[in-house]
Amino acid sequence: MRETMSEFIIHVENIHKSYLMGKEAVSALRGVSLNVTRGEMICLMGPSGSGKTTLLNLLGGLDEPGRGHISIDGQNVVAMSEEEMARLRLQKLGFIFQTFNLLSNFTAFENIEAPIVLQGKLKRKARRARVKMLLEQVGLGDRMDHYPSELSGGQQQRVAVARALANDPPIIIGDEMTGDLDSKTGFEVMTLIRELNQTQYKTVIFVTHDPRMADFSDRTIHMLDGVIHNEVRQNDIRIENNDLPSGSNTTP
Ligand SMILES: Nc1ncnc2c1ncn2[C@@H]1O[C@H](COP(=O)(O)OP(=O)(O)OP(=O)(O)O)[C@@H](O)[C@H]1O
Ligand SMILES: [Mg+2]
Repeated sequence: MRETMSEFIIHVENIHKSYLMGKEAVSALRGVSLNVTRGEMICLMGPSGSGKTTLLNLLGGLDEPGRGHISIDGQNVVAMSEEEMARLRLQKLGFIFQTFNLLSNFTAFENIEAPIVLQGKLKRKARRARVKMLLEQVGLGDRMDHYPSELSGGQQQRVAVARALANDPPIIIGDEMTGDLDSKTGFEVMTLIRELNQTQYKTVIFVTHDPRMADFSDRTIHMLDGVIHNEVRQNDIRIENNDLPSGSNTTP
């Protein structure tokens, strides 16, 4: 049982979450189970209040489930201390938000550099080279010293994408990351994320209200009232090919 679990980079089993509002408990998640294969790109959809952000927050350890099990890359998240969780977030997860959440007093360069400094693994020279490389990768090599207020929405979100990649995490989590962008810019950002998924094998899980964005994913999961209502695979063939375990050749 344990072995089959670890083949999934994200493993969620029967999680529940409720919030206390005064004396009343508001149920946000009511038994959600989800397995994500390494390299998969998942789209989460569903009406406002259906529990999408709650689920992403639990995956990132930004909140704790009432009950249930979550593991990220084989590590049990629910049992972790705050410190262990912070380290796991820095190493394994890159977050992208609707409102970009860049530090306004930091340049594009400094915003991307910050999580690398926090992780503390790269010396100054290697760190600076990495930030430059990331800025070029998202098409902002000529905007390094700009502050967020000196960048367009799409450019700010590109900085946020580069920041999410700063420590080369295997997983990218996005909550309505194109929600504040016009549709052309939104498509450009999603194209970039899909490229990262396909060329660097990043696992991506993102929330959107825009059905056209679902086309960028391998699988769309629809949530309703705190449960997974149904799911649709966009491209069975690609996933099945990647998923074939070695030594499972059943050709007669
Ligand atoms: N911190 C909180 N305190 C109390 N209730 C909360 C809190 N966060 C979420 N909820 C409730 O949990 C439910 C799920 O909220 P959640 O933010 O996950 O929805 P969502 O699917 O992301 O919606 P949206 O599409 O509007 O972002 C809602 O009923 C919400 O009111
Ligand atoms: Mg939300």
